Amino acid sequence: MAEGQEKAAPRTDKGLMGVVNWFDDRFPLMETWNYHMARYWAPKNFNFWYYFGVLSMVVLVIQLLTGLWLTMSYVPSGEGAFASVEYIMRDVEYGWLLRYLHSTGASAFFVVVYLHMFRGMMYGSYRKPRELLWLIGMAIFVALMAEGFFGYLLPWGNMSYWGAQVIVSLVGAIPVIGPDLMEWVRGDFLMSGITLNRFFALHVIALPLVLVMLVFVHIVALHHVGSNNPDGVEIKKNKDANGIPVDGIPFHPYYTIGHDLPAIVMFLILFCLVVFYAPEMGGYFLEKPNFEMADPLKTPDHIAPVWYYTPFYAMLRAATYPLFGIPAKFWGFVVMAGAIVVPAVLPWLDRSPVKSMRYKGMISKAMLGLFVICFFILGYLGTIAPSPEATLLAQICTAIYFAYFVLMPWYTRVEKTKPVPDRVTT
Ligand code: HEM
Repeated sequence: MAEGQEKAAPRTDKGLMGVVNWFDDRFPLMETWNYHMARYWAPKNFNFWYYFGVLSMVVLVIQLLTGLWLTMSYVPSGEGAFASVEYIMRDVEYGWLLRYLHSTGASAFFVVVYLHMFRGMMYGSYRKPRELLWLIGMAIFVALMAEGFFGYLLPWGNMSYWGAQVIVSLVGAIPVIGPDLMEWVRGDFLMSGITLNRFFALHVIALPLVLVMLVFVHIVALHHVGSNNPDGVEIKKNKDANGIPVDGIPFHPYYTIGHDLPAIVMFLILFCLVVFYAPEMGGYFLEKPNFEMADPLKTPDHIAPVWYYTPFYAMLRAATYPLFGIPAKFWGFVVMAGAIVVPAVLPWLDRSPVKSMRYKGMISKAMLGLFVICFFILGYLGTIAPSPEATLLAQICTAIYFAYFVLMPWYTRVEKTKPVPDRVTT
């Protein structure tokens, strides 16, 4: 008998159970259900921070469905794109709702994913045996950033156009191959309908497919190693006579009904409030210049990406010095890309004997606090026009952002930690 399984009840083939059994004889239906839901032993001390994985899934589904319906009326061409979005907003039945759900969904995706990642950093969820789970998460994050970037060009508004122009031109700053590579990426000598077409293909087919596959393996990896928890205690190390973790409870129904469902309802209420009452969110979710059609001859006064990219955009602009004869723009690109991928190495930077921030020392707590403050400051700086003072502040915050990672092997080893309890605390 498999670990954690008591004696099975006698088989009845009546009613619904008959249908279930018919499938079960041909497909591992109940086995899969039990492995992932009814007999997935989740630590009993999940808290608020454990809502954001399931909420990320909810937003993924919202994006896939609304995206599919938007695609039915959207025209992916330089001549037709902007007008087709106006058509969706004005003439397509509930087109405005589909578009606002999708544009608000993009921002909501980053809210929940940033909080989900922060939880992992706080509770050391990236530590052994969850390194691969974390790396898959990082791949999701990078794919999500690309997905948002490609999608943002599609309305063919003036900010879409110039925002994409700024980011694509970074490729041109790569020494030697840059200019040719940039032309290859754009498919033209400047951003054009050809660029729009390829971004459309990537946004509606390639990246959603990659995202869905990555989320699938994310869950497979999670259920193989088991969930971490706010105490960072491995519940699999303490099992009862039936092989069930003493600190574990069945994921279904305890977490599905008792924990996740109320959170999903709350989230959907908040989400709908934004969709119906503040879909532009004061220009943070939908920017003003994007209500004008793309114009290669008219640069917006101040080009800024959507809020979820602004911390990284501020780091890009913080690099102002050329080095080794290579222009500052290229180094900005390196800093920005480095800032996005550096969390991937966290499992190998953290040398603390404990996982959770609850039991780590003062330096870890202070560094994580500083990291968060700098991330917010950078996020703000990325939305405003550059000035010497803003650039200096962005440079300081960028240095602290990287110091959090680079100094981690040192501060997690020298600081005094608290003893971790044997059982989870509730
Ligand atoms: C579409 C995006 C994502 C979806 C749908 C998703 C989904 C989930 C779900 C459902 C869980 C289990 C519930 C929970 O612990 O909250 C989970 C756990 C986890 N995820 Fe994600 N995730 C996504 C992105 C990410 C990213 C970007 C990272 C990190 C780079 C990440 C790292 C983790 C880790 C480390 C855990 C285990 C946490 C623990 O047990 O303490 N995930 N994810």
